[in-house]
Amino acid sequence: MAARCGNSLWDLPLMDMILPLISRWAHVGTAILLVGGTAFFRLAVIPALEGENSDLLAKIRGNWKKFVHIGILVFLVSGFYNYIAVGIPQHKGDGLYHALIGTKMLLAMYVFFLASVLVGSKPSSQKFRNDAKKWTGVMLLVAAVIVGISGFAKVRGVPAKSPDVSESQPSEQAGNSDDSETAA
Ligand code: HEM
Repeated sequence: MAARCGNSLWDLPLMDMILPLISRWAHVGTAILLVGGTAFFRLAVIPALEGENSDLLAKIRGNWKKFVHIGILVFLVSGFYNYIAVGIPQHKGDGLYHALIGTKMLLAMYVFFLASVLVGSKPSSQKFRNDAKKWTGVMLLVAAVIVGISGFAKVRGVPAKSPDVSESQPSEQAGNSDDSETAA
């Protein structure tokens, strides 16, 4: 969409701008809720309930679970939309951008895995909940790296298009043949 008009969303007619805007609001809003909620859980709830009965912790997890699952869905839908409808057209040939967002997607899948097992109830993932302090800390750290990568990708912006190498080749070749002809 962005590629159709100019490089910036501001070049777009209002209607075309609405979906990218709503998708970015949904994406950043989910980041605020889930990363903020994880920070509160790790820095306030877990220390306060350490050594206390775990029923309360289980109740808190039960309440938080639906936000985690809906949040992962919103991250995936808005993230892939941001990337496919806005990022790819704007960053054609921009290897660093695609490497950054690709790395970010992989890290996000790890965060989604940890977030799911920490609110889960399967016996196989109980070891993560038994050491919730450690794994919530790991999740927070990786989420901070993800936000860092996203912010860098945004501030870095769309690099100025360098003239396509292939375009200049024919004329250069033409230039060269001239030289050799004149040399002869
Ligand atoms: C833990 C999960 C995630 C977090 C915390 C997160 C956070 C963010 C934040 C804060 C931004 C806005 C950056 C800014 O404008 O400064 C952003 C942008 C973006 N996110 Fe995510 N995100 C997550 C998962 C994903 C996933 C799974 C995808 C792809 C499937 C994705 C794709 C994108 C794209 C393409 C952008 C726009 C980058 C640009 O400005 O060109 N994100 N993300």
